Amino acid sequence: MTLNDPSPTREWWRDAVIYQVYVRSFADSDGDGVGDLPGITARLPYLRDLGVDAVWLTPFYTSPQKDHGYDVADYTDVEPLFGTLADADALLTTAHDLGLRVVVDLVPNHSSSAHEWFQAALAAAPGSPERARYLFRDGRGPEGAEPPNNWVSVFGGPAWTRVEDGQWYLHLFDSSQPDFDWRNPEVGDLFEGVLRFWLDRGVDGFRVDVAHGLVKEASLRDQIVGEDELPGSGADVNGTQNTDRSMVERTLRDEPMWDQPEVHEVYRRWHRVLAEYPGDRMTVAEAWTQTPESMARFVRSDEMSQSFNFAWLVSPWSASAFAAVITDTFAALADVHADPTWVLSNHDVIRHVTRYGGGEQGLARARAATLTMLGLPGSSYLYQGEELGLEQVDVAPQFRQDPSWFRTGEVGRDGCRVPIPWSGEQAPYGFGPGADQPWLPQPDDWAGLTVAAQLEDPDSTLAFYRRALAARRELTGTRIEMLTPAEDVLAFRRDDVVVVLNCGSTPVDLAALGLPTTPLATSGPGVLSGSTLAADGAVWVR
Ligand code: GLC
Ligand code: MG
Repeated sequence: MTLNDPSPTREWWRDAVIYQVYVRSFADSDGDGVGDLPGITARLPYLRDLGVDAVWLTPFYTSPQKDHGYDVADYTDVEPLFGTLADADALLTTAHDLGLRVVVDLVPNHSSSAHEWFQAALAAAPGSPERARYLFRDGRGPEGAEPPNNWVSVFGGPAWTRVEDGQWYLHLFDSSQPDFDWRNPEVGDLFEGVLRFWLDRGVDGFRVDVAHGLVKEASLRDQIVGEDELPGSGADVNGTQNTDRSMVERTLRDEPMWDQPEVHEVYRRWHRVLAEYPGDRMTVAEAWTQTPESMARFVRSDEMSQSFNFAWLVSPWSASAFAAVITDTFAALADVHADPTWVLSNHDVIRHVTRYGGGEQGLARARAATLTMLGLPGSSYLYQGEELGLEQVDVAPQFRQDPSWFRTGEVGRDGCRVPIPWSGEQAPYGFGPGADQPWLPQPDDWAGLTVAAQLEDPDSTLAFYRRALAARRELTGTRIEMLTPAEDVLAFRRDDVVVVLNCGSTPVDLAALGLPTTPLATSGPGVLSGSTLAADGAVWVR
């Protein structure tokens, strides 16, 4: 399996490690218990020392925070809770001085209902140009009292909300997040302006939210939902468990709201815009698509740079399942000459330590999966706190803030968004100068997991990430050869290094499997003893 053009002029992002900062929860500078831009800027040296190449910031634009920033009221200004435009500029300058790139989040599928365009649409009449920037429609049934179609919001409940004059507007997410009508050219023009605004300020790239959702099938027809796909039918369309259901369950067989062919025109236009700017600006698609082939369509050479490879994230703990994801990913991307990405955690899913069972075993598996991922050619995405081995937190109902919790009564995503513990013995664990719990309360047993505590311990998860990211710089090959040494063992060769992951429940002898035994990196202390690789362990050997 070979990647596209391994020339020395490869763009920085093709093999970058990109660290996701969830802005509300990384570091607080002003003591209000909510993370902010100056807080992040002050902690950038930590990320440089961790050894990542770039930082992706979740949305920090003006926003009522109904979906914590994914509801944008002004795309070209900073939410006062997080700082000012000057703070954003300072963050960019500091990051660049430290050798870190900065990727910002772009939310083009929907705005906040507080956006001036949506407010103007509400004030204007049905059929007006103001309404035509969003998806307003008349309802069905007597008095138009039924929604225009049967679509369901990703956050639960109907995807339509009725306004005073009786029309309905579409929101694939919360009712505070009205979907734009991307078939209206005004919308494309707005976003070209937004791209240029941030490119001019020096950002290195954009993570594109809900990239597969912008264009809907023009008819807005009903979605055909099979009996076996109805909620509660027990169907598990992605073959996954344990991930956040609201994010995974959107994949049904018939999807008139997702992944329409016309969406790719949007990304061709953005490609042309980015190409005007110096210095390898990039885009990465958040597209929960159905197959590796549909993922690959977003990264054709005249579209986006990257697409998140969620197949890796949703894979069960199984050598053959991981191997299939790797093989399918390379096969699909070879057709479009793109490079893969890999990701195990983000702000929408259950943290991978917890997905792999939690506790000591969950942590061992999480570290092993991470080391395997970091051994793969392509780019890897890390989510803040995974380098500390954090588990999903069971946030008590009275503190939950995820809109999907309010719409469905399901637990939601708050548990992976609890503020980072930096130091100290009790909350807020150095998160900020405030004395109280931050916006989501931190558990009282996190003292041993703080950055400060883990920096003292060579066996800590943080020390493991730092070593792995340093060792990764030695892996430069863009080719891998899959090996199948044993049923529960995933292995592949990259140059002279072999990456081995033991998904089985018993140790394996690498020498007996004909594999090398000199370690370049291991997923934990005692994982490799002599030539024996422990269960739930991974190594890079040569
Ligand atoms: C994306 C984001 C998620 C957000 C949703 C709506 O999936 O990752 O956090 O809630 O889009 O913008
Ligand atoms: Mg703050």
